[in-house]
Amino acid sequence: MVDYKKIGLVNTREMFKKAVSGGYAIPAFNFNNMEQMQAIIMAAVETKSPVILQVSKGAREYANPTLLRYMAEGAVEYAKELGCPNPQIVLHLDHGDSFETCKSCIDMGFSSVMYDGSALPYEENIRISRQVVEYAHKYDVTVECELGVLAGVEDEVASEVSHYTKPEEVIDFATRTGCDSLAISIGTSHGAYKFKPEQCTVDPKTGRLLPPPLAFDVLEAIEKKLPGFPIVLHGSSSVPQDEVDTINANGGALKAAVGIPEEQLRKAAKSAVCKINIDSDSRLAMTAAIRKHLAEHPDHFDPRQYLKPARESMKKMYIHKIVNVLGSNDKL
Ligand code: G3H
Ligand code: 13P
Ligand code: ZN
Repeated sequence: MVDYKKIGLVNTREMFKKAVSGGYAIPAFNFNNMEQMQAIIMAAVETKSPVILQVSKGAREYANPTLLRYMAEGAVEYAKELGCPNPQIVLHLDHGDSFETCKSCIDMGFSSVMYDGSALPYEENIRISRQVVEYAHKYDVTVECELGVLAGVEDEVASEVSHYTKPEEVIDFATRTGCDSLAISIGTSHGAYKFKPEQCTVDPKTGRLLPPPLAFDVLEAIEKKLPGFPIVLHGSSSVPQDEVDTINANGGALKAAVGIPEEQLRKAAKSAVCKINIDSDSRLAMTAAIRKHLAEHPDHFDPRQYLKPARESMKKMYIHKIVNVLGSNDKL
């Protein structure tokens, strides 16, 4: 059993309390490799921001769970070395799919876990969420649970049944699970293709696709039911069009990729939304920089030559999100 406090990590409790009352959101950035982790920590230190390092099940499989855990431990020391005496870093399991996965992470020193039972029937979601919360709270590990399905607006329109989180369920869910934060569905979705072109309108000035707005009415109704309760938004990449263009100009083929406009995330961050998950934007920044570098330097084959600009590009993107979208800078 690894005690996360002994390795300098923190849970989300205080962090979320301050974020909700301060009207900003904590960045939750996924990492799978050293360059992403370095870029996240450099950005957090430079901006004096708390940060959540997220690890998915896929990341654990890709990089090895033990190695990832030690990388997070290393991240704390790295932040100190970069000049941050008291870094606020959470190591969080993203989309835990079972009690066993959550337990394994808690036992390995994670300070926060998500149990994602959103695809399960309501009572089953509550039962397993509760089981995770009971185990996690013994070790002061915080738990994020999810209610509502991140299926995208397409399903909203096509389906008879709404996939958005039902405000009338949130009090019962939060009370019976005892979760510390709640991931909700208000129209965000995972990946770089969040909406179909036919769901979007075209910006007459730029010719770009403009996605449908998030369901802020649902968010407001949830906030009224659970005043001050920490709310989480998944699927919040903005899919920057300049990165998509760079990828496509250098051999890529990303067609009609579209994300969540940053103004909408900024608006959400000012509400009870206190954690915003971003993964795809980091993938795009990394891929664009690598493709561009290799296209311009076809003779390069040392990974450091193309991973260095990739890391720089991700760091720039993380800083932009922290300062201009989430507002979590200068909070340490
Ligand atoms: O929500 C999903 C995250 O972007 C993680 O993705 O499962 O491919 O690592 P992944
Ligand atoms: P994006 O795919 O929009 O980056 O969402 C990431 C996420 O929600 C991780 O849990
Ligand atoms: Zn997610």
